[in-house]
Amino acid sequence: MNKIFSKIIPFLLILFISAAGYAQVKVVWKQVQPGIWKSVVGEPEPISLLKAAQAKAYEAGFASLPATSFPLDKNEITVTQRDGKIYLRFPLQQEEKIFGFGLNFKTVNQRGRILNLHVDHYGGADNGRTHAPVPFYVSSGGYGVLIDVARYMTVYAGTAVSVNTKHPPRLYDRNNDKDWSAQPYSDAVEILIPAQGLEMYVIAGPTPMHVVQRYNLMNGGGCLPPKWGLGFTERVPTLFSQAEIIREAKMFEEHDFPLDFIGVEPGWQSMSYPCTFEWDKERFPDPQDFLKKLSAMGIRSNLWLNPYVSPRASLYPGMKKLSGSHTVWNGIVPDFTLAQARKLIKDHFFRHHLELGVSGYKIDEIDGYDKWLWPDVATFPSGYTGEQMRQVYGLLLQQMTAAWFKERNQRTYGLIRASNAGASAFPYVIYNDYYSHRDFITALINSSFSGVLWTPEVRASETAEEWVRRMQTVCFSPMAMLNAWADGTKPWSFPEVEKAVKDVADLRMQLLPYIYSTFAQYRFEGKPPFRAMNLLTGFDFGETNVEGKLDGTKNPYAMSIKKDINDQYMMGDNILVAPMFTGEKSRKVHLPEGKWYDFYTGAFAGEHEIINITPGLDKIPLFVMDGSIIPMIAARRQAPTPESKDQLIVRHYGKAPGRFTLYDDDGVSFDYEKGACTFITLSVIRNSSGDLVGSMTRPAPGKPFAYTNDVKWVFMTENKK
Ligand code: GAL
Repeated sequence: MNKIFSKIIPFLLILFISAAGYAQVKVVWKQVQPGIWKSVVGEPEPISLLKAAQAKAYEAGFASLPATSFPLDKNEITVTQRDGKIYLRFPLQQEEKIFGFGLNFKTVNQRGRILNLHVDHYGGADNGRTHAPVPFYVSSGGYGVLIDVARYMTVYAGTAVSVNTKHPPRLYDRNNDKDWSAQPYSDAVEILIPAQGLEMYVIAGPTPMHVVQRYNLMNGGGCLPPKWGLGFTERVPTLFSQAEIIREAKMFEEHDFPLDFIGVEPGWQSMSYPCTFEWDKERFPDPQDFLKKLSAMGIRSNLWLNPYVSPRASLYPGMKKLSGSHTVWNGIVPDFTLAQARKLIKDHFFRHHLELGVSGYKIDEIDGYDKWLWPDVATFPSGYTGEQMRQVYGLLLQQMTAAWFKERNQRTYGLIRASNAGASAFPYVIYNDYYSHRDFITALINSSFSGVLWTPEVRASETAEEWVRRMQTVCFSPMAMLNAWADGTKPWSFPEVEKAVKDVADLRMQLLPYIYSTFAQYRFEGKPPFRAMNLLTGFDFGETNVEGKLDGTKNPYAMSIKKDINDQYMMGDNILVAPMFTGEKSRKVHLPEGKWYDFYTGAFAGEHEIINITPGLDKIPLFVMDGSIIPMIAARRQAPTPESKDQLIVRHYGKAPGRFTLYDDDGVSFDYEKGACTFITLSVIRNSSGDLVGSMTRPAPGKPFAYTNDVKWVFMTENKK
């Protein structure tokens, strides 16, 4: 009897579940990389974010990461399928903060937010619609979760409270308890995904930085730009002719202002919005000669495009049957999941651009504004839906174009307006038309949680003060860019601050050995080059709670506002950047654990404390950790080339000994992947007489190394005694 019962009960249970219309799915985790576990739910769709990115893990990078075990309680992760949708629930502890979910512009800690992850132009609110709505979050508790599916999904990042929760919020009476809150405590991240299947990953730490490293490594390791990509770039006014661009480049020479590559905006094409991808015969009568002249000046070129093919383009007839059902600005939308569409465009671009010497692209307008892009009702010949295409189009274009340059053993570095999960290795930087300086910096901070790069580009300014402040931050970002496409601004447009602007551009060039080594960390270890403070171990100032005051019109639920640190960040391991914004005469800087020193003077600045600084207009505040070594060179107008040799000027800060791994290679090709690269150690120790002394290991013979042997050591703090 008992036996029969035990057989019948599970059967009855399943019946009950299906009658109720939902089924709790058994979750099986399989380790796929060290510290990364994957689970397959239902039947995953043939396209996903990671599939579109075609990312292959950089396995060697995992070797130096600590061993770990599954970081969550597996029983606390639940997956339900119902109504053709997937419901996910991941546990949260009381003290955890949640970072990531893509390129947010205002907030760093996402706990307590509801986001609808949807590729779009950023519209001024952190609601999930953004240029890179990456479905990946990193917990301050030292683990991460990635959902790989090309669908719009809704994330309740610690907002939803289920009846049966193990950690229910306390019950308060709004009438009498001042602790009553309109947002009761929630102990879960819950995600609703309108798909029949997906793949999800849990990523271990132990620290948030390790989580990000593993995420970037599973996606190929970070991108290593060519050296010239880290120099200064200007994008010229949209209708400039080839002669005007050459003149512009000469003006940079006359002003002795750095310039490594020039961005050519829509006017290079015979038609744009939609595009022909063909040179305009009047403005560019001889593209080959134009590119040769630029190259003789040491300048690379980057061409603007959006992918919508004009009926006037030679590509149009062949591409028509390979495109979606709807147009964008009267152009067809190629289905780049199809090999044939990829081949057509590749042949054209190779013949008319790459083989002539074009060094990269700015791929515009693939993010959104619903009224412009293809609608979700659009269909594509591959069978993928408008929604799926929207989520992956930026990835498809990055993957395809990056592979072209790779095939030529040539590194590129370009711009992209839409991205998503799996993009770490792509040599592309996100930008947009939004222009809040503060929010640009918060986006730079958040980019570090999502495996993407972001530039707070400079376009125009109302005042000299704003101009110099923006120039200062863009020079401390992945791409130092003036985008003068509309206004024709020049770096020297505001004579009052011309020197300060040139100083910061020169400082970027001086710092190239440090910046390039920082990108090498991204490439080989997965550490983002520009980092949120929250990725630093020992950075915790608690939460600054600004209590919300009850107000019948503006705040009837007395919602409290939690302030996070969204205006300072790290460039690499050693330099803390604390930008100044227009109108500010002073600001607060949160110095992490350890002793910190002023970059410019070497003077002690503070130790795990909040300091108040009053810097002048001429400098961006920078702080350096005790024992830091910062390799620099004398300012150059253009980044080092495979032939150049510079003297290293190595700065040391503070009193502690230190080490720095300096990376180098030819700076232009992928030969580094076959071993043509150099890692050397710069170290500072205290000798028996108590003096700090520096030394450098020698590069192996025959390996690329752009520096001479006579290192100049500068002890910034001790010399100032
Ligand atoms: C915008 C883009 C600008 C500029 C412009 C040219 O979409 O964000 O940076 O390229 O197009 O038309």
